Order: sequence, then C-alpha cells, then structure tokens
Amino acid sequence: MSLEFDPLLLTGVDEIDAQHRELFQRIGRLLDASRDRRSRDEVVRLLEFLGGYVVDHFAAEERTMEEAGYPKLEGHQSEHRQFVKELEILRHELKSEGPSHLFVIRVGNRVTEWLREHIYRTDRTLGDWLKAHR
Ligand SMILES: [Fe+2]
Repeated sequence: MSLEFDPLLLTGVDEIDAQHRELFQRIGRLLDASRDRRSRDEVVRLLEFLGGYVVDHFAAEERTMEEAGYPKLEGHQSEHRQFVKELEILRHELKSEGPSHLFVIRVGNRVTEWLREHIYRTDRTLGDWLKAHR
C-alpha cells in the first residue's frame, strides 16, 4: 500500500515537490515493511534509507533558501533540525523494540503527520515566497 501524495501539499517548486514525493515513497516502504512484520534489521535499513534522504532533502531546501536570501530561513531550519532529532529517537526505539504495532503508529504520528504539517505550512510558504522573489 503506497502512501498517497496529497496535491494540497504541492509547493509549486518542481525540485522540492519531486523530493517530497520521494520522501512519501520511502515512508510508504517503511510502513509496508513494518506492517508485514519483516525483520527488525530490514525495517531499520528502511528507516535509515528514509533518514538519509531526509538529510539530503533538507540540505537542498536550505541551500535554496540561502541562495535566494529567504528571510524565514532560521525558523524553517530549526523545524528541520527538530525532525532529524525525532527520526533519531525513532531509530533508537526501533532498534530496542523492533517494528511493533506501536512503531507503525509512531511513524504515522511523528513522521507522516509531521511532514504533511511542515510541507503544508512551512514549505508552501517558502514556495510562495520563491515564486514571488526569484
Ligand atoms: Fe522544509
């Protein structure tokens, strides 16, 4: 079951939108593997596969903001940092508890919902600003 990408989450910046789609695909794979009760090692690998892309994606967004002289860079960046910390906590929980039912719920709450919220408010605000200023 793949995770639907809601068109409401489009920022209008093609590069960013493509990366967001990739993020949701990776979350979908992580959730599928957890629900299928695949091995802990495999789920850990998929969480790391997601985490690696999150880091690259945030770096790309932050580079875009810096280059464009975006005035809300700092607040945006601190949301990113918070999320990276959250993923780190999840990784520890996964390693100690395995891909439990609770883990799936946590991914839903702390990863999927966080991203939707961040994209909907913070990234769309960035997209609108970029459209008007570059
Ligand atoms: Fe962002």
